[in-house]
Amino acid sequence: MKSYYKNYIERTFYLAKKGEGNVSPNPLVGCVIVKNNKIIGEGFHEKYGSNHAEINAINSVKDKKTVNQSSIFINLEPCSHYGKTPPCVNELIKLKPKEIVISNKDPNPKVNGKGIKKIKEMGIKVVTNILKEKGEKLNKRFFNSIKNKRPYIILKWAETKNNLIANRKNNSKWISNNLSRQFVHKWRSVEDSILVGASTVEFDNPNLTVRKWAGRNPIRLVINPKKRLDNKNNIFNKLSKTLNIDNINEKNLKKVIGSLVEKNIISIIVEGGSFTLNKFIKNNLWDEMRIFKSKKNFRGGLAAPKFNYEKKDYKKIFDDQLFILFNK
Ligand SMILES: NC(=O)c1ccc[n+]([C@@H]2O[C@H](COP(=O)([O-])OP(=O)(O)OC[C@H]3O[C@@H](n4cnc5c(N)ncnc54)[C@H](OP(=O)(O)O)[C@@H]3O)[C@@H](O)[C@H]2O)c1
Repeated sequence: MKSYYKNYIERTFYLAKKGEGNVSPNPLVGCVIVKNNKIIGEGFHEKYGSNHAEINAINSVKDKKTVNQSSIFINLEPCSHYGKTPPCVNELIKLKPKEIVISNKDPNPKVNGKGIKKIKEMGIKVVTNILKEKGEKLNKRFFNSIKNKRPYIILKWAETKNNLIANRKNNSKWISNNLSRQFVHKWRSVEDSILVGASTVEFDNPNLTVRKWAGRNPIRLVINPKKRLDNKNNIFNKLSKTLNIDNINEKNLKKVIGSLVEKNIISIIVEGGSFTLNKFIKNNLWDEMRIFKSKKNFRGGLAAPKFNYEKKDYKKIFDDQLFILFNK
């Protein structure tokens, strides 16, 4: 493997990440075109339905004739099928680059090796699996939606020092500090959806929008099997779309949540309350947990979700501790 492969693939990751929050359910993709160790063009997938990264990179090259002396780096195998846009692989082949270097093979059954095969058939060298794990991590939501046929699920809550998520009167609202809450708004801006249980809507009347960060609002999902919420709740205001999930019973949580992928929802941040979070934990229906632990104490209240974890590794957010756990 040539030593510079990793550097330029890193650059594709950096570019790809700029599309976060705007391209779902598509993957994050960046592309770099390099001639004589100089970048002569680059681009990323900026918005769902718009040009793919490869096309933006090609369009940015001044003299397209020189691409035949260049290497093209992409973090994901180029598409070979007609979707919202024509196949990128055809545009790449036309330019006859020296080689195409890829991090991940596209797991989408419509592509899955077909793009690579087409390039090789044209006699162009293809190198794959450069920083493969890092590439998969970058596109964890996309890979998960195809492999597990359900959205990537992040469980998030804030608890007091004595493990409570609400006080006795259910009017405690803020447990974590202002900076922690800013983190939460940043997280919301890159996930497709945000989910809560009906009681959280009743007690807190939250908007569940992005206000402490710049970015778009996720789709709001509320589990409301007894249809006990009315349209006056903020969650049904016009600031974002809301899906009222009223078909959940004791047995079908996995199925109902899995079916959200068909609505192009490939990630969910579940923000409470305890009852709802515990259901996801009990069904082993989660990929990440993000738990804020505050220094505050309540005299009695609602217990935080039940999950034992190592209390050693955390980030300090001023006086809060942030624990991030992954479901292996
Ligand atoms: N500290 C934090 O991070 C945090 C975050 C959010 C909320 N909270 C607090 O938590 C409290 C509310 O939490 P909570 O545990 O009482 O309630 P919750 O989880 O907000 O809502 C529970 C209700 O949602 C429905 N539901 C959710 N999942 C379901 C499932 N899998 N199957 C069937 N029904 C399901 C049921 O509605 P039906 O009863 O209608 O069937 C259930 O009673 C509030 O005080 C709020 O302030 C704290």
